[in-house]
Amino acid sequence: MDYMKKLLKALKEENLYPDIRTVNDVPYPELIIEGRRYLCFCSNNYLGLSIHPEVKKAAIEAIQRFGIGTCESRIIAGNLSILEELEQAIADFKKEPAAMVFLSGFMANIGIIPGVMDSFEGLGMPAVNNDENLIIRDYLCHTSIIEGCRLSKSPTKTYLHNNMEHLEKILSRNEHRRKLIITDGVFSMDGDMAPLPDIIYLAKQYNAMVMIDDAHATGVIGKNGRGTPEHFDVEGQIDLVMGTLSKAIGALGGYLTSSREVIDLLKVKARSYVFSSSLPPEQVYGIIKSLQIIQNKPELRERLWKNIDHLKSGLKSIGFKTVESETQIIPIIIGDEEKSKKMARLMFDMGILAPSVTYPAVPEGKSRIRCTVMATHTPQQIDKALEAFQVAGDKLGIIGKVKTHKREPIHVV
Ligand SMILES: Cc1ncc(COP(=O)(O)O)c(C=O)c1O
Repeated sequence: MDYMKKLLKALKEENLYPDIRTVNDVPYPELIIEGRRYLCFCSNNYLGLSIHPEVKKAAIEAIQRFGIGTCESRIIAGNLSILEELEQAIADFKKEPAAMVFLSGFMANIGIIPGVMDSFEGLGMPAVNNDENLIIRDYLCHTSIIEGCRLSKSPTKTYLHNNMEHLEKILSRNEHRRKLIITDGVFSMDGDMAPLPDIIYLAKQYNAMVMIDDAHATGVIGKNGRGTPEHFDVEGQIDLVMGTLSKAIGALGGYLTSSREVIDLLKVKARSYVFSSSLPPEQVYGIIKSLQIIQNKPELRERLWKNIDHLKSGLKSIGFKTVESETQIIPIIIGDEEKSKKMARLMFDMGILAPSVTYPAVPEGKSRIRCTVMATHTPQQIDKALEAFQVAGDKLGIIGKVKTHKREPIHVV
């Protein structure tokens, strides 16, 4: 207990303990926090679907029919037909052979990675030494991928962010191992995309499998919102496409699409799937409705992209030279942790929620305001945020001095 008390004190003294706001109501793109109305510029609810009337109606119908929980793993008695319907809907949307759903994106990554890589003993399977495997991941992968790698008994190596030379070096030194390359499709803190065609090319050259986490791309990236494989025209060429249902889909859950065989195997081998209760019915119906809206209402995505352009060009014209982002995640890199927090607090005082993200969520010295934009923001709301950014930036004396986010070499484990 003493150790934990000391650690908490140290985190607070070092200003590393985040401001955690209590949200009373969610009239997106606004939020009611402690009784006051704020414009939200940090949500992953990119299309505003979590409160879409049709999605809410579908969720209520599910509760009326099935109640609020499955209370069982899929393997026992939790395999509701609507879960299978949802998996088919995801596979159809993603144009992939088959899909499975997990309780969250985090649960998906910690189940999929060991499930794919680790050996199975018994059933006359040849003995495989896990050290003959190798997971190779991007340095900036999401924490849930890192945890999935740590849970796996297979060793992991990390390549410099989006650095294909480094990836190739690792691949070429490990030609005879069974290899899995893992990357985010859109990186959650930087908003840039992985160079999927290059990764696929290298994977073919060196006989490696590829897994992507398309959490922030699904519903947003690609002409039809099918994510980074659609954007790069490489659909059907990635072995494992994982994502969350908690961002543009507006709900909760994680999914994996892959071949029928891989999905059938992981449904008995991925431990976070087998040993956990299944997604609640209201989520299932809500997600099916969200997927229909994403496919039938491209105007939502079009509005989001207009808003992305508006916010990005506005930040640029104010003098925030920040954005290498290619997506709805628009980080303003401040660097100094103290200044980044001050900036977020100034924004908050002006009615804008755009929190500071600091170490360990991002590398030390890379503190930032992680700004995101939604399809449901009005142009006036974006202008209001821009005005606040200008005032806060002036007050802190950082406009024009904030550096473009350079990706200098980083320590690699
Ligand atoms: C890239 C990425 N993967 C996975 C997750 C985890 O998803 P979930 O919130 O559904 O657990 C997140 C969530 O922040 C994420 O950004």
